[in-house]
Amino acid sequence: MSFTNTNPTATTSWKNLEKLADNRSTLQAYFNADLERASAFSIDWNQFFVDYSKTHIDAEIKASLVSLAKEVGLEGAREAYFGGTTINQTEGRAVLHTALRAKKDADIRVDGANVVPGVYAVRKKIRAFSESIIDGTKKSSSGQAFTDVVNIGIGGSDLGPAMITEALGYYKNHLNVHFISNVDGDHVMEVLKKVNPKTTLFVVVSKTFSTQETLTNATTAKQWLVNELGAAAVGDHFVAVSTNLSAIEAFGIQAENVFSMNDWVGGRFSLWSAVGLSIALAVGPDNFEALLEGANNMDEHFATTPLENNIPVMLALITVWYNNFLDAQSEAIIPYSQYLHRLPAYLQQGIMESNGKSVDRDGIPVTYDTGNIIWGEPGTNSQHAFFQLMHQGTKLIPAHFIGFTNPLHGNQDHHDKLMANFFAQTEALMQGKTEAQVREELEKKGITGQALEKLVPFKIFHGDNPTTTLLIEKLTPKTLGALVAMYEHKIFVEGVVWNIYSYDQWGVELGKQLANVILKEFSSKEEVSHDASTAQLLARYKR
Ligand code: F6P
Repeated sequence: MSFTNTNPTATTSWKNLEKLADNRSTLQAYFNADLERASAFSIDWNQFFVDYSKTHIDAEIKASLVSLAKEVGLEGAREAYFGGTTINQTEGRAVLHTALRAKKDADIRVDGANVVPGVYAVRKKIRAFSESIIDGTKKSSSGQAFTDVVNIGIGGSDLGPAMITEALGYYKNHLNVHFISNVDGDHVMEVLKKVNPKTTLFVVVSKTFSTQETLTNATTAKQWLVNELGAAAVGDHFVAVSTNLSAIEAFGIQAENVFSMNDWVGGRFSLWSAVGLSIALAVGPDNFEALLEGANNMDEHFATTPLENNIPVMLALITVWYNNFLDAQSEAIIPYSQYLHRLPAYLQQGIMESNGKSVDRDGIPVTYDTGNIIWGEPGTNSQHAFFQLMHQGTKLIPAHFIGFTNPLHGNQDHHDKLMANFFAQTEALMQGKTEAQVREELEKKGITGQALEKLVPFKIFHGDNPTTTLLIEKLTPKTLGALVAMYEHKIFVEGVVWNIYSYDQWGVELGKQLANVILKEFSSKEEVSHDASTAQLLARYKR
């Protein structure tokens, strides 16, 4: 198990890839040159079919990317990641979200102790608790069954549970689940407006239990409950998920209502832990466990499959190819499923908080691009928004298209229309429309002469836009778990290739400190020195 520091630009493969990038061909030309291309550049795994043949990769580029992964020690790093080595070295921690979905008989050691029994003990508690809330045996302080659950958290303590709860909306039970994250008081007030204090359960989620937004929102919610039902009700209406047991006690939540988590789970990878309590409440513990099982299946695929057939590895290497050799700045993620409308936002945190780093693992500023910019919205809505820029703009935007073979509600007519758009877009992005095609089309419409000449340039589509298609059988807890785990491992592979630490987030911590300094100023008379712009804005705000 080794986690070595290798400057990727010093490898033979990197230099080779630079040359290959200079001579890269077009997608059309790749297809013309290789009749087997579609199947050769696809991976068929469980309910997933991943087609990356519409990316600028040929056999030689693929081989060089795989050899880059080997040269930077990906296989050893992968073992270290799964084995509990302290790969989050700047925080002195292992990175073991994979242990949260490991099989019961797995043996994964941190400081010599197997962590799996502890994981299963928390899972058992999640099951018992969520079952008792769902079936109404656990009552509120007023003796009624709970009808509403309010998750209070931010970042990983919100985005994961919120995204999954939306994504599994089809599997939801009768409980209404709400999310409060923003410290904007309008967010908490809007949610409180909708719920009945007598039948509402608050789940306060904070790994550190020190995050300003979460503590502020939890305090407001608690005060609201106390005003409505009295202080004695807090014990029955508040539970917490955290590693910081003493802070929870100080907040007034009883020890038996606390779900613990471990410091070897990063916030943005924590939905598999007790942070997923709101998911278990929304869709029931069986579905929550199926989500974990799906993620575990992807873990096994990632851990054991040779690099060239390994989904997260190949997707990460394609990102590296575009990011570092073809100058793409961003990557779009377009799920063709309304249920997955929060997936891009969730992945923005996962990917950009992890790989937004500019110093390598030796502490030296990198000389190459690292984390790319992630954005996206579901199709077909996004087609009527930013697809214009993808088709005819000047930017290179590799995109992931995520679609499902089967609809959930059985509306085949809708699904056929949805998926016809899905396939048509990836085809059009690649093929574009040539001048000859445009002329022919216009002539067929009876447009000729000057009028035709004027229009032609605007109707040409350059094409050659890369997409990777993830076609999945059906949106189920299991396939969703595998999909999210796939992106987690993709993040890991990219971090290894870029020789950066993917599991800290000092940039976000800075934001927390800065806001506190200005907040103190609001209530003190003390003059603090700021830049001229900030000073002017603060003066206007305080007046
Ligand atoms: O955004 C920074 C961050 O540290 C995330 O990594 C984390 O998910 C979020 O803040 C919330 O932190 P906590 O769960 O400790 O409240």
